[in-house]
Amino acid sequence: MISCTLRLKYKPILSFLVATFLTFSAFAQGGEKADVSKEGVTAAAPAAPAAGADPALASAGDALFKNNCASCHALDEVVVGPALRGVTKRHSQAWLLNWVKNSSKMVQSGDKEAVKLFNDFNKQQMPSFAFSDDEIKSIMAYVESAPASAPGGGDKVAGTTPAGDDQVGAGVGNDVSRYMDMLLIVLVIVLIVMVITLLIIANVLTNYLKKNRELNEEDAEVLGHRFEVSKVLKSKVVRGLALAIFVVALLDLTLDKVLGVGIQQNYQPKQPIAFSHKLHAGDHKIDCNYCHTSVYKSKNANIPSANICMNCHSQIKKESAEIKKIYTAIEKNRPIEWVRIHNLPDLAYFNHSQHTKVGGVECQTCHGPIETMDVVYQYSPLTMGWCINCHRETPLNTQGNAYYDNLVKLHDSNNADAPFTVSSNGGTECSKCHY
Ligand code: HEC
Ligand code: HEC
Ligand code: HEC
Ligand code: HEC
Ligand code: HEC
Ligand code: HEC
Repeated sequence: MISCTLRLKYKPILSFLVATFLTFSAFAQGGEKADVSKEGVTAAAPAAPAAGADPALASAGDALFKNNCASCHALDEVVVGPALRGVTKRHSQAWLLNWVKNSSKMVQSGDKEAVKLFNDFNKQQMPSFAFSDDEIKSIMAYVESAPASAPGGGDKVAGTTPAGDDQVGAGVGNDVSRYMDMLLIVLVIVLIVMVITLLIIANVLTNYLKKNRELNEEDAEVLGHRFEVSKVLKSKVVRGLALAIFVVALLDLTLDKVLGVGIQQNYQPKQPIAFSHKLHAGDHKIDCNYCHTSVYKSKNANIPSANICMNCHSQIKKESAEIKKIYTAIEKNRPIEWVRIHNLPDLAYFNHSQHTKVGGVECQTCHGPIETMDVVYQYSPLTMGWCINCHRETPLNTQGNAYYDNLVKLHDSNNADAPFTVSSNGGTECSKCHY
């Protein structure tokens, strides 16, 4: 009899649970849909027709902007450089084309707008970009037409998302893992609410029965039972929920791992001494090569030994606690234990001098604006896709390199209009980077 009543009384709880789940799944799906449509807007970018922008042009500019400019620029706020929205109204198109191609040349030539900007931004130099006019125009089209909350307008992390294909991967990864986190939280809440509701109802029922009913022995015994944890644990619903939470938690962990295998972009460990590249390479303009002496000569860029620091710090800032750490290292004859930031897996071969000396690639192209970093972080994804993309796009630095003369002739006679890129010279062959 009682069990019958109880079953009846369970009904509201069950329907409550079902309702919660339904609400949740509707909510979750709604969230997903919202995301998709948001992306739709960004991709098509037909939004504000500010500069009469062509949507196709703007979406080409979107990718270029995110891969090359977003580390220093956002649309609506100052990051390293100025907020770019409205820039086509501040400068003529010809000026913008020249600026992006080589801003320092403009500053040196004494162009008033350029010099003022340069001074306003603490004489930080914007890198030069070997873009075509059309590419720069597409970036400007994107800058003027992108919706206000556009991704890429924002903090360092958003600005340095992996390039190209990887960006899509990372985006999906973040969404999935956010979704998982949400699911996990909701499941835990449901579980807690359920336990509480059960306890309250059991309590109310017990009291009610005790007061109002004449009970037979059997029922009285049931009623006399105290609340038992083991019973709750044995309940199918509770077990099911616990299992669900466990599975989601596990999936969440593995997904995070799988989606980010080996990619350590933005990795920024704490270093044993508060050494600042901004101070040394930025403010005091010490050449990279002064400390990383092997970077133009050999495969690896070395990390300077304490002796190099002593060239200056035997005199400068002797009283500083941070500098005393250098002295201690030298006294104890122990190297300073810098934490390594960039690290390719052993299966890949990378050579610095080939890129810096032979290829003429700037450190900043791969390492980002190191001279503005107080603490160095990994700017590029260092994935295979990243290496290969650049090899496809970058023309070989063949000038004054006799080794390439014949190759260039051969290439030009076969397909004259295609640029002679690293990949036309075999830079995307597996064996170049893997043996
Ligand atoms: C390493 C940081 C950095 C990167 C990357 C960078 N910029 Fe800049 N940019 C700056 C700084 C700093 C300034 C301010 C002027 C100065 O100090 O030279 C600037 C200024 C500008 C200006 C002038 C803005 C104004 O308000 O007048 C434009 C336009 C511009 N950048 C476009 C670009 C584009 C397009 C890209 C990508 C292709 C890009 N920048 C990438 C740092 C950067
Ligand atoms: C005064 C010496 C000094 C100068 C100048 C200097 N560096 Fe460094 N660099 C260091 C030291 C010390 C470390 C290790 C500690 C750290 O990561 O901050 C380091 C670390 C780095 C790393 C990270 C290495 C890793 O662990 O993966 C990069 C990349 C780097 N430097 C690039 C540059 C570039 C580019 C320049 C020039 C713009 C430069 N450095 C100028 C001393 C210097
Ligand atoms: C070419 C000269 C030079 C070299 C080499 C050099 N530094 Fe410096 N360092 C400076 C100057 C200049 C300052 C700024 C001093 C000031 O603010 O008065 C400085 C400041 C510092 C500071 C900040 C000290 C404080 O308490 O404000 C630290 C830490 C430091 N350096 C560590 C290092 C380390 C570690 C190395 C070796 C990897 C190194 N430096 C190599 C010139 C140098
Ligand atoms: C083409 C891209 C590229 C350029 C250009 C580049 N680096 Fe690197 N750098 C890398 C990669 C990739 C690694 C990781 C190498 C590894 O783990 O074997 C790295 C690692 C480093 C390290 C850590 C030590 C090491 O060799 O692993 C330092 C320091 C460094 N770079 C400094 C520089 C400096 C200074 C310049 C400019 C003179 C520069 N890099 C130019 C891609 C580049
Ligand atoms: C910013 C552009 C850029 C990036 C990023 C880049 N490279 Fe390169 N790489 C070049 C250029 C330019 C050359 C051609 C140098 C020359 O003139 O020989 C080159 C040449 C090479 C070569 C020699 C190819 C040949 O034909 O002999 C190898 C190997 C190589 N890169 C490996 C890598 C690896 C591994 C990575 C990623 C960790 C990488 N590169 C990332 C620009 C890049
Ligand atoms: C320009 C240099 C470059 C070229 C060319 C290149 N790779 Fe890679 N590859 C890398 C780098 C760097 C990594 C390590 C970074 C990573 O795991 O994404 C890598 C990683 C790999 C991995 C391991 C992936 C993992 O997750 O551990 C495989 C497999 C691979 N490459 C196969 C190939 C094949 C096959 C080719 C020829 C079609 C090729 N690579 C051409 C640079 C290159």
